[in-house]
Amino acid sequence: MKNKSVVIASDHGGFELKDLVIKFLEDLDFSVTDFGTNSGESVDYPDFAEKVARFVSKNQSDFGILICGTGIGMAISANKIKNIRAVNCTNTTMARLSRQHNNANILCLGARTIGSVLATDIVSEFISTEFEGGRHKRRVDKITKLEETNE
Ligand code: RB5
Repeated sequence: MKNKSVVIASDHGGFELKDLVIKFLEDLDFSVTDFGTNSGESVDYPDFAEKVARFVSKNQSDFGILICGTGIGMAISANKIKNIRAVNCTNTTMARLSRQHNNANILCLGARTIGSVLATDIVSEFISTEFEGGRHKRRVDKITKLEETNE
């Protein structure tokens, strides 16, 4: 069976949590592509959100993970890219339902708003939960259609 793949990036506010999440995923045999950043030097989160979102949008990875101070800027940025459903989750219920109901493909985390144990619990829930389809597919298809009317 093919190992699942994750592409990940952060800004300076999230790079320490990013390293911890990468280790967590590699211990689960996930293949991880890391787009940085790798230090506390100040960078702009939309640059990193764009790299991960374009990668996921082209199906080059099963999931994306983006980490900034709050997860908010990353989610707003990533959702500008076609085919992306990025969610900022602060608990495991949101992570599970974002997969089951919304078929979310990028998880955003706030390194300054949640602790590291909760963060890896959220990642674990996100990557292990399948989309339920059915009535939820009809709704997600309507989200995709909104991209066509973008002005
Ligand atoms: C950077 O200081 C901070 O604004 C960023 O990490 C993030 O929280 C933005 O949403």
